[in-house]
Amino acid sequence: MTSTVAPSALVETLRQRRQRLAQRIDFPVVLWSGQPVSRNFPALTYPFRASSHFLYFAGISLPNAAIRLDGGRLTLFLDEASPSAALWHGPTPSREDLAATLGADAAYPLAELPRFASGVATLAVQDAATAAEQLPIRGIIQPAQDKALALAVIALRLEQDAAAIADIRTAATVSVQAHRAGMAATGTATTEAQVRAAMEQVILSHNLTCAYNSIVTVHGEVLHNEQYHHPLQRGDLLLADVGAEAPTGWASDITRTWPVSGQFSPTQRAVYDVVLAAHDACIAKAAPEVEYRDIHLLACEVLAMGLVDLGILQGDPVGLVERDAHALFFPHGVGHLLGLDVHDMEDLGDMAGYAPGRQRSDRFGLGYLRLDRPLQAGMVVTIEPGFYQVPGILQDPDRRDRYRDCVNWDRLEDFGDVRGIRIEDDVLVTATGAEVLTADLPTLASEIEAIVQSEC
Ligand code: GLY
Ligand code: MN
Ligand code: MN
Repeated sequence: MTSTVAPSALVETLRQRRQRLAQRIDFPVVLWSGQPVSRNFPALTYPFRASSHFLYFAGISLPNAAIRLDGGRLTLFLDEASPSAALWHGPTPSREDLAATLGADAAYPLAELPRFASGVATLAVQDAATAAEQLPIRGIIQPAQDKALALAVIALRLEQDAAAIADIRTAATVSVQAHRAGMAATGTATTEAQVRAAMEQVILSHNLTCAYNSIVTVHGEVLHNEQYHHPLQRGDLLLADVGAEAPTGWASDITRTWPVSGQFSPTQRAVYDVVLAAHDACIAKAAPEVEYRDIHLLACEVLAMGLVDLGILQGDPVGLVERDAHALFFPHGVGHLLGLDVHDMEDLGDMAGYAPGRQRSDRFGLGYLRLDRPLQAGMVVTIEPGFYQVPGILQDPDRRDRYRDCVNWDRLEDFGDVRGIRIEDDVLVTATGAEVLTADLPTLASEIEAIVQSEC
């Protein structure tokens, strides 16, 4: 079947992605979208979202579909919806209509796939049922080709094209509104859940989804806290890490931390400004060719310097970072790739995040660094330094012993109302530097206080 519709922007974007893949590999590929995962019985499923690799080349989140890419040609494999599906779910576009929408050169029922998929390269999907189907359909597995495919797709997806950047901007714009709504709702909210609801309401009302499970917590020291039951106390800091996903799948990822009362305490403000100094220094350094690892280490040094000034750490900041003492309070990496996945392409382990030949360090201060590549124009990354008082780290006898000369533990007690602070923005690397895609959301403490107070 040949597409008869006039080429749309989507068709042209997808065609260019296929062509760029064809310039990198000379063997056929099949990518599966995956299938809905049942929650408790077959008809009750979790919301479906196609595999990101499929979505990159197919543009539409079609369940139970596969695409074959070969020399720039796209073949779609998809079954027509059954009549009973229409009863429950409404009319569904025909296979032919969908093929036209994504500019497919041909389209077949799924039963035809084995005929076209023997020995092809692929990338594994996350849902177990589809992963199990891939193996018998491919028959022969080509590990070297699978790896070459992964490297080719990584090369493409590291450099976001214009359509992707436009969609990340859409997601970022809505996320900024969600954060403003969360800040404004805090004055009258009594629980984390109410602030979360105010934030996700903005995302849902734009008919978008969340790119990941929201973190809205007064216990920011739990890095990915997904509990929302705590009451809000006036002396608390509220950490909100909430990001929308565009209808096409592109993600955003924003964190802000604000005082429930509308005013930071002096200790909260002092540490906030240290984290903000690290955030600003990292963004100022972001540019093509700059090693992301060096941006991470810059965050560590600025944090260490600020914590020395506050009397929490003691010693020379550079020496403290060499000993990983900063990681007592900043145990994660300064950010990650952002794209169709919030941690983009992490389904491939560290293949995307780490340049060929590089491996994760087992150092306390580097082990959670998710990205170790030189930045390049078109890359979108997050910058998200933080400060946390994690009991499991700070009360660990071995660490207390190893770092007993680095920390003024008595002074640290003065900062008991600072459990967790993170400031996170999404940054597009440009030809000459970087653009903060989430810059419409203030980071200055005084501006954040003003938004929180606007509804108090
Ligand atoms: N929202 C998850 C993260 O920032 O890594
Ligand atoms: Mn992030
Ligand atoms: Mn985040």
